[in-house]
Amino acid sequence: MKFFVDTADVAAIAELNDLGMVDGVTTNPSLILKSGRDILEVTREICGIVSGPVSAEVVAMDAQSMIAEGRKLAAIAPNIAVKVPLTWDGLKACKVLTGDGFMVNVTLCFSANQALLAAKAGATFISPFIGRLDDINLDGMELIGDIRTIYDNYDFRTQILAASIRSANHMKDAALMGADVATAPPAVIKAMANHVLTDKGLEQFNADWAKTGQKIL
Ligand code: E4P
Repeated sequence: MKFFVDTADVAAIAELNDLGMVDGVTTNPSLILKSGRDILEVTREICGIVSGPVSAEVVAMDAQSMIAEGRKLAAIAPNIAVKVPLTWDGLKACKVLTGDGFMVNVTLCFSANQALLAAKAGATFISPFIGRLDDINLDGMELIGDIRTIYDNYDFRTQILAASIRSANHMKDAALMGADVATAPPAVIKAMANHVLTDKGLEQFNADWAKTGQKIL
């Protein structure tokens, strides 16, 4: 499973990228707001750090304006994936922008039917929002499984990008469900390294090592 980082925080992206943990980046208007940066400027900087797909989201509501915004965003760098919403206009924009040769990430997906439409429109990525479904007592991970089954049934090439990931368990479950990609905030990716038994074991080893009176360096 590929790891995308769900942030527009350049320092956090660079830190994870140095560790080889970043296969791509996703941003959205809320993350751009959080960064306090200009969308074109910060996206260009991210594309200079990460070689994989960097999603930049359009904000228009009609297809023609989405296409114009998408073309402008795609001109930032060759690794831009234009993010469009899963609306009828968004699907129209997806078809045109993929026809232009750009990667397109169809976002705000909450049902298998929506994912089926995105694949038919030629989306490069479909972004089902796991956490937001869980927030309303629906099963986000079940949606990932349904989309996996449908895409495999018909050999759709659209990649399932599990989004709205809130915990390390979501990352494990997305991998088990066969998501192609999971995008998560930096803190969630770092939390995947944590285990209480690792901490406890380290404490014991350090205590015993101190008793040996030895040094390695
Ligand atoms: C990524 O593409 C999405 O925009 C993001 O994962 C949404 O996450 P949230 O539901 O935590 O805002």
